[in-house]
Amino acid sequence: MKSQLWILCLLSVVSLTGCQSDRAPSFVSNDDIDQLIPAARDVAVAEVEANFGSPSNLVVASYLNVDFGTYSGTVEKVKPDGSYRVRLNPQSPLASEERMAGLKGAAVTIAASKSAESTEAPAASEAPAKEGESSADEKPQVLQVVSFTVSPTQDEGEGVVGDLTVVSTDGTAVTVNEKDVVTVIGDTLQHGRNLYLRHCMHCHGVSGDGAGPTAQYFTIKPRDYRLGKFKFTSTKGGVRASRDDLYRIIKLGIPGTYMPSFMLLPDSESRAITEYIRWLAMRGEMEGMVATQFSDFSVDRLKEEDAGAVEKEFNDDWAANASDYRTQIEGDLKTGWTDSEDEQNVIWPLKKKAPDADPPDLELVPAPRKVPTSESIANGRRLFMHKDIACFSCHGETARGNGVSTETRNKNLLTNEMNEKPGLYDDWGNLVKPRDLTSGIFRGGRRPIDLYRRIHTGIKGTPMQGFGGKSLDGDEIWDIVNYVLSIPVHGATPESSK
Ligand code: HEC
Ligand code: HEC
Repeated sequence: MKSQLWILCLLSVVSLTGCQSDRAPSFVSNDDIDQLIPAARDVAVAEVEANFGSPSNLVVASYLNVDFGTYSGTVEKVKPDGSYRVRLNPQSPLASEERMAGLKGAAVTIAASKSAESTEAPAASEAPAKEGESSADEKPQVLQVVSFTVSPTQDEGEGVVGDLTVVSTDGTAVTVNEKDVVTVIGDTLQHGRNLYLRHCMHCHGVSGDGAGPTAQYFTIKPRDYRLGKFKFTSTKGGVRASRDDLYRIIKLGIPGTYMPSFMLLPDSESRAITEYIRWLAMRGEMEGMVATQFSDFSVDRLKEEDAGAVEKEFNDDWAANASDYRTQIEGDLKTGWTDSEDEQNVIWPLKKKAPDADPPDLELVPAPRKVPTSESIANGRRLFMHKDIACFSCHGETARGNGVSTETRNKNLLTNEMNEKPGLYDDWGNLVKPRDLTSGIFRGGRRPIDLYRRIHTGIKGTPMQGFGGKSLDGDEIWDIVNYVLSIPVHGATPESSK
């Protein structure tokens, strides 16, 4: 079953970016897609576009775990000037009464009311699916908000009353009656898009590829969101970043890099940007997944094989498997970005209840932060230098970030092949230096719990892998945290460990 997609035509993008319409921002395709034979490339681009649209024509794919911003309500009156007096309620946390007056360009459906009490609105991510089900045969028309003017005379009762003017996006006539159910969706995503283009795009790029116009001047490159990976998260290994992780990065920035803090933005704006960069990451991931799915059809084949035959093979494969491919990709994106919101996937310090029990007792209990005594710090140093943990192999014995791994050729963790050059590389292909721990600058936050999570789970997409669970238990990780925090003050070799 193909999920319903809602198209939001955004009239406002031109004026907001200050560009002429012929220079409206557009998404670029990733390099892997450019490597495909033309037929496969066209399908790949079309698939991504059908699910995400373009920066000036955002698409809401209802299966994604994104708070697109939903309002719902009822038509109270059809007015002589062609507008509708409606009563709307914000249905998702980011769709606020305060934002309502600015509603413009968002998609709206107005469906004949089934029963008087059916005005209760579904959650944002479920809205379109439910609408689809309730009127399977008479699909609600997708319209577009031209304006919503909040009425100055609000009477008693729930919601905000205002005059809604809509246009149909496909040229069909709009027929709306009193008591019809209204759903407006996409306002938050648009709001996030506008803010992103203003504050983030010049570094992170329109597509979130990390290649905005200013990026070329930086040695530490802005994150390319399209891998769907973020480095500094509170979540377990293999789990994506949570909304709160990204929100926190926006608020605090990344110390020691060009990533600024946006502390002064109102929360509602940082939250809207968070939804937008999650959505960009999902878009990038979908592109990557489609490219992988089609990887048998690279242009390289055309050097030796007949183009027509390869194209036919592709077309046959796509005809046979399109719906399976879509189900798989949609499922992966949906679960991936829903798991990251699951509290069970956040790292909290734990330790074995009875570490010495025989037979072993696997029960875990909370491990509160240990007091940074000289014993704890010394044990942290011991573990840092332990051959099985081997922090020193990357960070160096003096913790200045100059361990032997920075000079030797290492394995690429993605391909499992040896890198061409010595040093450590991240999954984006950038050379990464192990942190100089004497500097006291921590990119993922300097709270003890931040460092705990860095050591427990590692830094995602980098060679620094996690040590939690198997190698180290909670108390040991706290010892290392205490040691790491002591380095800028007392140096890397504490007296007691000599
Ligand atoms: C002046 C350039 C610049 C601007 C403007 C900028 N960033 Fe960044 N951003 C960076 C750099 C550089 C990094 C990579 C830092 C690193 O790798 O440690 C980064 C990394 C990130 C990350 C990755 C965090 C992680 O855990 O991996 C996120 C998310 C992010 N930025 C979001 C934003 C958002 C949202 C905005 C706009 C509100 C923004 N950035 C504006 C330069 C910038
Ligand atoms: C395989 C090499 C490697 C090993 C082993 C390693 N690290 Fe790292 N570490 C890195 C790299 C690379 C970075 C920087 C990653 C980045 O920001 O892209 C880093 C960053 C850090 C940071 C900075 C976190 C922040 O928020 O800025 C800390 C703290 C740290 N490592 C501690 C440790 C400790 C403690 C150990 C041992 C338990 C360890 N590392 C083992 C490579 C390693």
